[in-house]
Amino acid sequence: MESYTIEAAKAVSGEITVPGDKSISHRSIMLGSIASGITRVTGFLRGEDNLATLNAFRAMGVEVEDDGTTLTIHGRGLHGLEEPADVIDCGNSGTSIRLLTGLLSGQSFFSVLTGDKYLRKRPMKRVVGPLWEMGARIAGRAGGEKAPLAISGARLQGIAYDSPVSSAQVKSAILLAGLYADGETVVREPHLSRDHSERMLRHFGADIQADGPCVRIRGGRELRGQDIVVPGDISSAAFFIVAGLIVPGSELLIKGVGVNPTRTGIVDILHLMGGEISLQNQRELSGEPVADILVRTSPLRGIEIGGDLVPRAIDEFPVLCVAAACASGRTVIRDAQELRVKETDRIKAMAENLRLAGVPVEETGDGMIIEGGKGFSAFNADSKGDHRIAMSMLIAGLVTPGSCRVDDTDCIATSFPNFFQLLEQVAKR
Ligand code: S3P
Repeated sequence: MESYTIEAAKAVSGEITVPGDKSISHRSIMLGSIASGITRVTGFLRGEDNLATLNAFRAMGVEVEDDGTTLTIHGRGLHGLEEPADVIDCGNSGTSIRLLTGLLSGQSFFSVLTGDKYLRKRPMKRVVGPLWEMGARIAGRAGGEKAPLAISGARLQGIAYDSPVSSAQVKSAILLAGLYADGETVVREPHLSRDHSERMLRHFGADIQADGPCVRIRGGRELRGQDIVVPGDISSAAFFIVAGLIVPGSELLIKGVGVNPTRTGIVDILHLMGGEISLQNQRELSGEPVADILVRTSPLRGIEIGGDLVPRAIDEFPVLCVAAACASGRTVIRDAQELRVKETDRIKAMAENLRLAGVPVEETGDGMIIEGGKGFSAFNADSKGDHRIAMSMLIAGLVTPGSCRVDDTDCIATSFPNFFQLLEQVAKR
């Protein structure tokens, strides 16, 4: 298990690009594989999570060429996937297993999905339940709640599903099953979660309509291969945005970042906290908005975060906790109970790690209360095997006097393989 020792930085500055968006990268492989014709993907994130999705489709007979810059996917059409000869290992990736469960429910073959020890603890009924309603034949541990999941292809019926959670993985699993279902499939969620599936399905020619948090899809229509340019991942940029705000004397430009409004909660929250962040050179790539993000050191103040901001910043709460600890006054996070079922329980993990760094924190059922402004004292943090906890505590290390150590940092490779390289490039010492 790797550990990393980090020293305080005098500033973070320069110009960087972060790797491709994880959510869009997954979806590009999935839709490219079941479209007819060729899909070319540039900017694909070569993190472990996305490679798990790529390997899954290769195991189902999809030819994917990789010249190091562009993936060329030879789509097999809606009904062209082949039965995989072995269990599909999704590793640490919740997006891979949940979206694949939806997509594989409508195939005419048998498949088994599993993952690492963290993924095998995460809830799957949230997708299995509505898929059962569509007629899917899925069995899993704990009555279908836990992976491994065994899926026997079945004929699916469209349903109208009111999701109790705002989750893009739940929504996307049902929409992908909906591609194979008879009639119309409708998904409604309490607040709109990331809408990359809807956008990309439309781009590939699916019969889909979205109206805020309500999406309708009709199955049966062939998808056509497309060229996809994957923008930088705002969830990866978030670590450097927060670094740029909290490290004194910083000015950092992060180029080519996806700024889909369902993902920019981090920018809105940091604006409310007083952060100087501007989006420049706004443009559109493959149906997704993109911008360069400029950030400067700013005095931050504590705020209350809840409601529809939560799904729009769901993966950014670990690093937002670091920003909150550096802000003056109290930050209250609520409505964020979904954080308890991420790669680890992120409320518990961040509360424990912040306390180790001397920050007063109170855990609540659906969030936490952080007393900011006291700064961090040197710490030895534990990632709990969660990439975003590891990277967040490393960012805290940039503003902590003395050396700090973060244990179990290998997991960073799931989403951000060149994180350390970029960190050392921008951190001035
Ligand atoms: C993702 C959706 C979110 C997010 C995850 C990626 C996706 O999960 O946390 O990192 O690509 O659809 P939930 O759907 O569980 O909120």
